[in-house]
Amino acid sequence: AALSFQHVFEPGSEPPLLLLHGTGGDEHDLLPVGRLLAPGRALLSPRGQVLERGAPRFFRRLAEGVFDEVDIRRRAADLAAFVGEARAAYGLSAPVAVGFSNGANMAAALLLLHPDVLAGAVLLRAMVPLDEPGSGPLDGRPVLILSGAMDPIVPEANAQQLARQLEEAGARVRHEILPGGHNLGQQDVTRAAAWLGGLP
Ligand code: MLT
Repeated sequence: AALSFQHVFEPGSEPPLLLLHGTGGDEHDLLPVGRLLAPGRALLSPRGQVLERGAPRFFRRLAEGVFDEVDIRRRAADLAAFVGEARAAYGLSAPVAVGFSNGANMAAALLLLHPDVLAGAVLLRAMVPLDEPGSGPLDGRPVLILSGAMDPIVPEANAQQLARQLEEAGARVRHEILPGGHNLGQQDVTRAAAWLGGLP
């Protein structure tokens, strides 16, 4: 039977990467990034189910940086269910999320609301998705946050607050602030690949 999210799955080594695209992206966007970050790794890449003037996203927002938290909770539950379906269908262990922008915000919400779903996460240009998230237990799950020092969408204090929320929920967080803005650069690839390579 078809799974609940339109997606691409590429078989490979475990744990798989769960690729979560940014606003206006789709399930194909991050495949090249996933291959660069972890060559040979299984890739599971769903398309966000919310459309904002035609642009796919993983949850609704009221304005840039102003989120619909009721929708975030609902969509995070939907995505958690999809990960369960995909794990059963493809025989996978718990994935490590790699999310960019809106996809990173959804990965953060998944960690906070459904702490058993992800084995870890790389959050690229993430911000706080929920003012009052539940609190874990994330039991030492590894999380890498890569922020941009000149990011016009994510203020540094906001990324730091997210790092704190995740730590309080029990994650083992590494937060690095790279030169550059909201877009990804070569340093993101280098840092994230090295970090993923160091995971057990
Ligand atoms: C979001 O809506 O999740 C953030 O503003 C990032 C974005 O997608 O632009």
